[in-house]
Amino acid sequence: MSNFFEWDPAKYSVQVPKMDRGHQEIISCMNRLHTLREAKAPQAQLVKTVGDLCAITVKHFAEEEAYMASIGFADLAKHKIIHKTLLAKVMEHKSLFEATGKLTEEFFSFLKVWLKAHICGIDIKYAPQRVAA
Ligand SMILES: [Fe+2]
Repeated sequence: MSNFFEWDPAKYSVQVPKMDRGHQEIISCMNRLHTLREAKAPQAQLVKTVGDLCAITVKHFAEEEAYMASIGFADLAKHKIIHKTLLAKVMEHKSLFEATGKLTEEFFSFLKVWLKAHICGIDIKYAPQRVAA
């Protein structure tokens, strides 16, 4: 079975191995969640995986912000606000899931769109080649 979201280095690499690994971790957790939902896995497993996804995202954002600070990235403040907004959205979906016990299609499309747009449009700005240019 193909994954919900395929990692493609040509499209999604930001040329910083640690950040690429963080993005891949988020993607594989999201894929896992999608597969569990399709398989109608026990609710406890879904709850655990949604929790993991949130934790991985929080960790990755912190690492990314630390990385941007370490290279003196000019748009760090702006990027932090974007992360905060995204995280609030993720948490909103998590609360909705906790309240209803259901994972909506919107949640997955939000994650997919967010990952694509954020990695390719926002994170790519701190890629070494871009920063040097
Ligand atoms: Fe980011």
